[in-house]
Amino acid sequence: KRLVVLISGSGSNLQAILDYLAQGTCPAQVTAVISNKSDAYGLERARNAGIPTFSLSHKDFSSREAFDAELMTLIDSQHPDLVILAGFMRILTPEFTRHYSGRLFNIHPSLLPKYKGLNTHQRAIEAGDKLHGATVHFVTEELDGGPLIVQGQLDINPEDNPDSLAQRVHILEHQIYPMAIDWYCCDRLTLSPDGTVLLDNAS
Ligand code: GRF
Repeated sequence: KRLVVLISGSGSNLQAILDYLAQGTCPAQVTAVISNKSDAYGLERARNAGIPTFSLSHKDFSSREAFDAELMTLIDSQHPDLVILAGFMRILTPEFTRHYSGRLFNIHPSLLPKYKGLNTHQRAIEAGDKLHGATVHFVTEELDGGPLIVQGQLDINPEDNPDSLAQRVHILEHQIYPMAIDWYCCDRLTLSPDGTVLLDNAS
């Protein structure tokens, strides 16, 4: 399977995915990493792994639609089976999310449907939540609202602050994202047309 990963920043999830694929048990390769920020550290991680990188700045486009159209052209030139958002900090147009329906993943640092959007760790602490975590989901038009694939969960401790939670959530992310990608690449995971996530647990 051919994977394209979209990033905006550090790319620690990208690294976890690359490390996982390097084990050779999952029939997939990252064929390109694309960033909307040319200085994203994740691009360096990709280059270190010998993966072609592209940066496409949203600031060079007059509208979200124009940026997404160019992004789609770039992604499609890679003929990916799966497009992976890994800290890609742009809201995508309905044209984009529809085009990649059923083959577009995102990871979000909360137990969705709780805390869509930003500042998830702080919001979980302020709400007095006992549980927190991360979610991998299929992307639909609704921001952070698509069908859930897998979640990683942790306890919020009294001494936790947003930074400590962010660190521990990242560790969970690095476990669950490769897992979901593995399922997809082994044809065990599909999104049915009615929006149901189908996971074959047989193997
Ligand atoms: C992660 O917390 C992810 O959930 C969110 O953006 C962050 C990306 O981190 N969507 P990294 O760039 O993979 O380190």
